[in-house]
Amino acid sequence: MRRIYFDNNATTPLLPKVFEAMQPYLLGSFGNASSIHQQGQQARAAVEGARERVAEMLGARPSEIVFTSGGTEGDNLALFGLVEAGDHVISSTIEHHAVLNSCKRLEELGVAVSYVSSGADGVIQPESVRAALRPETKLISVMMANNETGARQKVQEIGAIARVADVYFHTDAVQAAGKLAIDVEQIGCDLLTIAAHKMHGPQGVGALFVRRATLLRATQLGGRHERGRRAGTENLAGIVGLGKAAELATEWLAEGGDRRMGTLRDRLEQGILGAVAGAHVNSAGAERVPNTSNIIFDGIEGEGFVIAMDLKGISVSTGAACSSGAIEPSHVLTAMGLGGEAARGSIRFSLGKQNTEEEVEYVLAQVPQVVEKLRELSPVWAGKR
Ligand SMILES: Cc1ncc(COP(=O)(O)O)c(C=O)c1O
Repeated sequence: MRRIYFDNNATTPLLPKVFEAMQPYLLGSFGNASSIHQQGQQARAAVEGARERVAEMLGARPSEIVFTSGGTEGDNLALFGLVEAGDHVISSTIEHHAVLNSCKRLEELGVAVSYVSSGADGVIQPESVRAALRPETKLISVMMANNETGARQKVQEIGAIARVADVYFHTDAVQAAGKLAIDVEQIGCDLLTIAAHKMHGPQGVGALFVRRATLLRATQLGGRHERGRRAGTENLAGIVGLGKAAELATEWLAEGGDRRMGTLRDRLEQGILGAVAGAHVNSAGAERVPNTSNIIFDGIEGEGFVIAMDLKGISVSTGAACSSGAIEPSHVLTAMGLGGEAARGSIRFSLGKQNTEEEVEYVLAQVPQVVEKLRELSPVWAGKR
């Protein structure tokens, strides 16, 4: 059966050019970048080349890039590396759990955390961030784009607030990298997290931008790798893959790839809204990354929809996380004010560079049938009519 993958916010397929770039470093050129012999030197050169590509993508200096094992580690390093007991942190209710659960642990360690709420559109208002500032505020951590709704956050305004208040600003750009142009100078952030696997690079590798002169404590201790900011032998092939993915993303954005992707996403979204009654877009009023569409289908359970689509060879996802057998509605959608029923009936369609117009048309042909079938079986929907 053919498979169509519309769950690119979960992870993306490797681009063949990324795979080709990585291959030599898994086989012949396998050296440890800390070794002084020839294989070590080749590995070091490859790591530093990748660092330059990542720095270019972010408008940063190569020395400001710290390679990590992905988005979760980058977020953890940013928060735990900067903040201490007695400090105050401002974050938001719509962050990824990599930030939210780190904030919860910080609270247990004696850090005060304010969680700023988004509006119904899933956007954090910079004024709410400003209002939460305290004399002891050390760090603001607000994401660049939300992983569930795609809503872009006003990071430039928040960066300006942080600058004036002389507070560090971290942004989780895991869902923005490769989809939007990023310039750390324009944003005015001190720390920024990316993950390779959300931009057609390999899983298990990422980077944290750490602005020069930021006093970041390493949280993973060992050797002096990454200028003492992250111990552990570098993931050579992974880092090379991240570097290649960054280079390709930079080219793709320069060629207007983001606009083409936005057109495809809009075709999908408009097609669904036109064909299915009782369908609404989450964060419709917000600026969004070009690949994401999160749609509430009245009267359906998201899990049922995902399974029915899977049986048709189509991968999509629900924002709901399954914990201890109960389906918890998404914390992001709930924080935006959606009730449990709407949050549970929300489906995330997220496109990648590999998706085509023809795939969008195929999915559009399937969605109305799947929704109709699920509604026939739904006591909630039956009650509505
Ligand atoms: C916004 C955001 N931050 C952090 C992460 C965690 O990244 P990783 O899976 O690379 O640890 C994700 C992954 O879904 C994400 O979407």
